[in-house]
Amino acid sequence: MKAHAIATVGVALALVLAVTACRSDDEGGPANGETSGVETTSSSAPAPPSASSLPEDAATLLWQGVNDEDYTSWDAAPGFTARRPAAGPHGDEVMVFVNDAVADRLRKQDAGGLPADSVLVKDVYTNGSLDAIAIMQKTDDLRWYWAEYDTDGTIIAEGLEIALCADCHSEGKDFVRSFDVP
Ligand code: HEC
Repeated sequence: MKAHAIATVGVALALVLAVTACRSDDEGGPANGETSGVETTSSSAPAPPSASSLPEDAATLLWQGVNDEDYTSWDAAPGFTARRPAAGPHGDEVMVFVNDAVADRLRKQDAGGLPADSVLVKDVYTNGSLDAIAIMQKTDDLRWYWAEYDTDGTIIAEGLEIALCADCHSEGKDFVRSFDVP
């Protein structure tokens, strides 16, 4: 059932991608120079949106995708054996999970930033309770899409390369703050 939902999203995005395949691709990713990052054939949703034609409901699709996959069963980010004190602006403790695309890259230690379809999820806790979920997802053309939610999925902020998130995250390699990207 979850696979079905994910496949449906994948098909919708595949159509979008097909239509936009001949766009002029001038933006590039955040300076990691990788061009072979399109790995959209796997069924490990959420499928990366096309940055040039983000669906209007990209944040909703992303929320559904990570929850359908039960992101809390994903690999913990390096250094996160458990929640740890927040270094960022929100909450007092955080836990970070990474999807397979990120985990694979970390295992291989390939240089060049994180691949398309990378998804990182940060659970933010305040006084011991989960109170926000922040997500970054790399699009098929290697740009970061950002979204932050209340625990019920209400969107607090979202957008492609939005300064609200990216300015502070630009301190980290490939915009990742909680661990070292190879
Ligand atoms: C003032 C700095 C700052 C801003 C603004 C910020 N973050 Fe972060 N973010 C951090 C830091 C520091 C971490 C490392 C984990 C921690 O201690 O919170 C982090 C971690 C994350 C992570 C886990 C992956 C990683 O990069 O380590 C995600 C996902 C994330 N933030 C999403 C967002 C989103 C979405 C926004 C905008 C709505 C945002 N962040 C705004 C500082 C910031």
